[in-house]
Amino acid sequence: QPVVCTTVDQMREALDARVAEGATSVGLFPTMGALHDGHLRIAQTAREENQLVVVSVFVNPLQFGPNEDFDSYPRQLDQDVAGLADCGVDLVFAPSTEEMYPGGVPVVSVTSGQAGSVLEGATRPGHFDGALTVVNKLFTIAQPGPGVEFRAYFGEKDAQQLLLMQRMVRDFNHRVEIRPVPIVRSETGLALSSRNQYLTTDDAAHALVLNRTLHSLAAGELTLEQARAAINREPGVKLDYLVTVDPDTLAEVEPRAGTLALTAAWVGPTRLIDNLKI
Ligand code: PAJ
Repeated sequence: QPVVCTTVDQMREALDARVAEGATSVGLFPTMGALHDGHLRIAQTAREENQLVVVSVFVNPLQFGPNEDFDSYPRQLDQDVAGLADCGVDLVFAPSTEEMYPGGVPVVSVTSGQAGSVLEGATRPGHFDGALTVVNKLFTIAQPGPGVEFRAYFGEKDAQQLLLMQRMVRDFNHRVEIRPVPIVRSETGLALSSRNQYLTTDDAAHALVLNRTLHSLAAGELTLEQARAAINREPGVKLDYLVTVDPDTLAEVEPRAGTLALTAAWVGPTRLIDNLKI
């Protein structure tokens, strides 16, 4: 069973104790809980690569817009801890909002600039500032100190988030190595997401158009315009964006080998994202 810490002090004490006992590597996996098999796969990867594994579970209010699903976001800590126990995770950090943001919105926070205002950031203003601000704190809270390898795990499903985390590490000189983990999908091809819980059976079937269309685009069977139309033709699905970008800068480029195709769409009331390397 992992030790569940709810305060920063408990977390640091538990971490320091393990390092004092001789742990020479720490893997941190930040999450918002409602863990699915994709999350658990990442926890297993962290387990394989590190002597000590820390998973944070915190639904971060700063990264939700006023009309987003912060209140209804699934919260199921006991179930999450049970899943993480099966993965052999050592420490779970599950703070309250007051513990992370005493007194409310922080005075000093991280801004994501241009790279955070396009694509997901265009539809979700402030989202990446919030995600970076909380992860910036987690890097400090779970920092094991000199002589101990420190790695942090992020899924390629959230490609723009992953890129921004890498930028933040570079810009702030965080002593952490970012480890990207490939997208985990259901047998049908749907990228696993905590928000898939919101989908009806019909929605879940229509949502497959995203992955299917990304593959057709990558295979050269569809142009970008045709691929956009294919997604919008699917019943119940409304495209937000489908673009191909330079994976290092997120600048839009023509689809070709080495580019990354990114898409976001509403399926019923639920906003889903997916991507595929071409
Ligand atoms: P959350 O949505 O809980 O996702 C936690 C991590 O799991 C992210 O790095 C995400 O990319 C990864 N992930 C989710 N579904 C995945 C899938 N199907 N395949 C591969 N990786 C997947 O992303 C966040 O939380 C938050 O923004 C956070 C980074 C925790 C900051 O609050």
